[in-house]
Amino acid sequence: MKPIYLTTPIYYVNAAPHLGHAHTTAMGDILKRIYTMRGHRVLFSTGTDEHGQKNQQAIEASGLPAEEYLARQSAKFRSLFDALEAEYDIWVRTPFAHHVAAVEHALLKLKQEDLLVKKKYSGLYCVGCEQFKRPSDLDAEGNCVDHRVKPVEMDEENYFLVISRFQDWLRNEIAGRKGWIEPSFHTEELLALLENPLEDLCISRPRSRVWLGVPLPFDAEYVTYVWFDALLNYISNVGWPANFDASSWDGVVHLIGKDIMKVHCIYWPIILKALGVPPPAAYRVHGYWTGGGGIKMSKSLGNVVDPLETMSVVGADGLRFYLAKNMRDKDASISTGLVIEGYNADLCNEIGNLFSRVTKFVIKNRGGRIPQVTPAACLPELCAWVAKSAAGALHKADLHTISEYVAVCLAISNKLNAAFTELAPWKNANPVETDPALYGLLDCIRMLFELLYPVMPQSSVRALAALGCEPPRKDGGAHVFEPHKLVPGGALGAEEALFPRQKAAC
Ligand code: MSP
Repeated sequence: MKPIYLTTPIYYVNAAPHLGHAHTTAMGDILKRIYTMRGHRVLFSTGTDEHGQKNQQAIEASGLPAEEYLARQSAKFRSLFDALEAEYDIWVRTPFAHHVAAVEHALLKLKQEDLLVKKKYSGLYCVGCEQFKRPSDLDAEGNCVDHRVKPVEMDEENYFLVISRFQDWLRNEIAGRKGWIEPSFHTEELLALLENPLEDLCISRPRSRVWLGVPLPFDAEYVTYVWFDALLNYISNVGWPANFDASSWDGVVHLIGKDIMKVHCIYWPIILKALGVPPPAAYRVHGYWTGGGGIKMSKSLGNVVDPLETMSVVGADGLRFYLAKNMRDKDASISTGLVIEGYNADLCNEIGNLFSRVTKFVIKNRGGRIPQVTPAACLPELCAWVAKSAAGALHKADLHTISEYVAVCLAISNKLNAAFTELAPWKNANPVETDPALYGLLDCIRMLFELLYPVMPQSSVRALAALGCEPPRKDGGAHVFEPHKLVPGGALGAEEALFPRQKAAC
């Protein structure tokens, strides 16, 4: 099986992490677990982007020494991702020495190959985006659409990567690689951007203005542009240049929000081409979570949701489930109240209720033992349907269709709840008649929690343990949803409230 290298963007540390940041890393972890269950070896990276003007301004405002501020902020992201149960393999911070060395190497290589020019440039700069903007990128008032502030005029001499040589090549790549960027409607947006000549990419900032960055190895008056520096994490993570793990790179999938698509899908492949590295294998793009006012959540707009606060009510699993279920192609609104409502409806009333009513019945009426029956004779059709639906969802799952994966989990739960209601074993005094169906239902619940494991690892491990089963293995081999694996006569663990009801937020 082809190895997969999943990456998230690395996050600016100018403020505490919000729910938008939690989203991409949580989705990365869900996909890591899904790909692992499909039998892939998966490498998963995430981390923090700690250079540039935006972070510099935050350091200056804090009054702390730069290193102390950066370490403290980066640790906040890391502990959020740990609390979210993200099992990343690579944690990167742009000040790490191996990364800085890779940035220096890249700059020297481009310089040697005559791909850098020094020239004067004036333009409009949005510090929030850390990007130059064209007037057509701004709203009617001349503000950045994401940060709602006017970009500042800049006029300075800098180093630029010559882009013109690569534009035709990139257009052909984007047009010719089916499935490269999903959802595919983004491909059209990118091709439209390439209809006119791109401007060269400014890769430096004068040190007199920006001191937080990797100094240019050939001109001490400048530091490296923060985006050029940050993008390189994707290859420095896998040993570039000296110990480049090309087989991991071949399977790289960049998970990104749509805000950073242009930099990732236009400038990044060009930088790679200029460095002689193949383009990324795939991009998967998600929309925005909007906070108050229906606009993209951002600290500077003051409309953020704190993921730790939300998790303190619904747990990591509750938040992961909500994010995966509700982010589709378009932007979606979110608040702690909406997450709690969703948790009560889907987890407490639906999936948790299914688990608790079936296990409770068996614990109370069958002495806490899985019925002693011949497995193959137990609800064979329902078990086969669950196994088939689960396998279908597992093999189809992707970032932009993750809500469909969750929808399959809910549909299975719904059907099992209905089957239990129809069976109504409490009305039948003869256990011999209902035991096969009870075994079948417990076995289907086992497969449901195997399917839920990537989305809700903690609760799934608990539910599977109560059924006497292990979670899906992580060490190679594709997971098979195989009916009738529960051990007849096995003990059923003490019934637990997997998803206790939570009070709605005011
Ligand atoms: N540092 C750059 C990325 C460099 S990657 C080489 C950056 N950082 S960021 O902190 O501003 O945002 C990074 C990512 O966080 C976004 O692309 C997106 O994946 C996620 N999100 C930030 N806000 C978000 C929402 N409101 N909604 C959904 N995701 C959002 O850009």
